[in-house]
Amino acid sequence: MTKNTPQNLQNQFANKTQAWSARFSEPVSELVKRYTASVDFDKRLANFDIQGSLAHADMLASIGIISAQDLQDIEKGMDQILEEIAQGNFVWSIDLEDVHLNIEKRLVELIGDAGKRLHTGRSRNDQVATDIRLWLRHEIDLSLDLLHQLRQQLATLSLEHAATILPGFTHLQVAQPVTFGHHLLAYAEMFGRDAERLADCRKRVNRLPLGAAALAGTSYPIDRERVANTLGFDEVCRNSLDAVSDRDFAIEFCAAAALIMTHISRLSEELVLWMSPRVGFIDLADRFCTGSSIMPQKKNPDVPELARGKTGRVNGHLVALLTLMKGQPLAYNKDNQEDKEGLFDTADTIRDTLTIFVDMVQGITVKADAMRAAALQGYATATDLADYLVKKGVPFRDAHETVAHAVRACEERGCDLADLSLNELQDFHQLITDDIFQVLTLEGSVAARNHIGGTAPERVRLEAQRILDASQAG
Ligand code: ARG
Repeated sequence: MTKNTPQNLQNQFANKTQAWSARFSEPVSELVKRYTASVDFDKRLANFDIQGSLAHADMLASIGIISAQDLQDIEKGMDQILEEIAQGNFVWSIDLEDVHLNIEKRLVELIGDAGKRLHTGRSRNDQVATDIRLWLRHEIDLSLDLLHQLRQQLATLSLEHAATILPGFTHLQVAQPVTFGHHLLAYAEMFGRDAERLADCRKRVNRLPLGAAALAGTSYPIDRERVANTLGFDEVCRNSLDAVSDRDFAIEFCAAAALIMTHISRLSEELVLWMSPRVGFIDLADRFCTGSSIMPQKKNPDVPELARGKTGRVNGHLVALLTLMKGQPLAYNKDNQEDKEGLFDTADTIRDTLTIFVDMVQGITVKADAMRAAALQGYATATDLADYLVKKGVPFRDAHETVAHAVRACEERGCDLADLSLNELQDFHQLITDDIFQVLTLEGSVAARNHIGGTAPERVRLEAQRILDASQAG
């Protein structure tokens, strides 16, 4: 039997496989080990974990808790670990549970005692909360950039098609003519708000939990402001219990991501519809489509369909995180380890999806003739006829009724409103004169809607340009 002399205990620490195992009389089973380990997925936090550790070590040295030599050794050891990870030579061990313990163990192997001093005044609880925030901040910046690129592409296409007319729909029935540029800019608006939401979420992500230690703070005279500064955090979390336990910042991100995917999904649905041979408004570049193994004529819009489908998993992750949080008493609980996979998948999904969409918007071929032909069906200018009568003094409800009669007559004859002669139109209302034909054209209809937010080509050009200018300035 080995005695529990300090030296023997130290050796035990060096050999043992779990950082907390001295207190335990039996090892966990293989299944429990796999069940509780997170290293398989949290190893992607490694660079952020090291970044956080270096900032912590720098602070410990600045207040004299570790020596300048210790700090140097830690920096050197971490450099090597970063290199090993980058080269794929780092040996990850499930016995060491998570990314934090794997890196710490390797550091001790490389530099000895200085490595063991790193964890002074710190716990994995504030460490992991810091890592996730550093990682998420980085992901938010990547997605913000992609959202801006997507808006730019939409605005560019919109400028090109500021005067291209297609039917606007309500209830998926032809309602009024709109310009394709205007339609595209609707999505630019949605993605603009998505970017605002992410930028706002970033403010709350960008706060430092480190220093909260396990839950109560630490008795060392730590300098949290210094660590926050080193890591580029705007603020320090003001309550240690809250800092280690809440994941509301991650939930916010998932909510913002769910809305991004919801907007992507709506756009996807339209792309699929527009590409259907029955509609034929656009074509998508071949690189976003696949063929059928049995039907040679098919070109399927797989990418938008898949994006529409992936919205489900992102929405699911939001619900999972909300549910994960709701039953937890203060402070840290192991439940929180479950925050990662869904969060990672959410960030990966929106990043990949946005990257593909930036390219896909550039691969849209617009079939303006088909759009125009569709806008000529379905009495898209009926409202314009009613508005025309109102401008001549007819109350709107009466004008609406008059036009309904005219539409019905056209339906019976199988023609459009613009196909009626002046005499025939005057049978419906004597105030109609020959300036009506300008009003009944598609071009007249869209040009008339020339106010902020309207579909007139002139407006669309201004709005598209505004987005492009802003993205250049930003
Ligand atoms: N792997 C853990 C997580 O992701 C790190 C924190 C564990 N802390 C603890 N006391 N078990 O949340």
